[in-house]
Amino acid sequence: MAARIAVLASGGGTNLQAIVDYHAQHAATVAGSITLVCANRESAGALERARESAIPTVVIDGSDAGESLLAALALHSIDLVVLAGYLKQIPPAVVRRYHGRIINIHPGLLPDFGGPGMYGARVHAAVIASGAAVTGVTVHFVDDQLDHGPVIAQWKVKVAADDTAESLAARVLEVEHLVYPRIVDMVAALNVTAHSPGL
Ligand code: GRF
Repeated sequence: MAARIAVLASGGGTNLQAIVDYHAQHAATVAGSITLVCANRESAGALERARESAIPTVVIDGSDAGESLLAALALHSIDLVVLAGYLKQIPPAVVRRYHGRIINIHPGLLPDFGGPGMYGARVHAAVIASGAAVTGVTVHFVDDQLDHGPVIAQWKVKVAADDTAESLAARVLEVEHLVYPRIVDMVAALNVTAHSPGL
């Protein structure tokens, strides 16, 4: 049976779009289906993208102890939770319940340039300020700390001498769109179900 995937987003949702498009293009072979999009803000562009693709949406309370998210995930029998620009920390109760079944993408090479306050343009500005020659993308399982947990894969992106935070963000985002849908499919294919003991 196809793994039921929920995507969580706070913002525009270009990664959500890449995942949805990939699933549409590879409908005959993908291991999962995108069955729910959760946002912690009504204004998240990701909700509009979900509606355009007829994917059920829910706005959860990103500040509770996880009750609203757990209720939505249970209602839709979700097997795998995919964070795509979700800016709230996942509450411990949810991490415990979905241990090994929540993944996140970060626009940097963790453990560098991650953690509290390190999101969006701030990551790329910090990379440039550090003088690093290489940055990249990390996909990892989520644990109870921000931008932490076992790394699934990383891709490197070269920092150019004349890069700004914006130009670097755009190149890293292109890589995110390429790799995240494939990693989501790979993790879904591990056949992680609600009965799995966790990874
Ligand atoms: C991406 O850079 C992602 O790595 C980070 O937040 C951004 C989300 O962008 N976690 P979008 O909402 O998918 O366009």
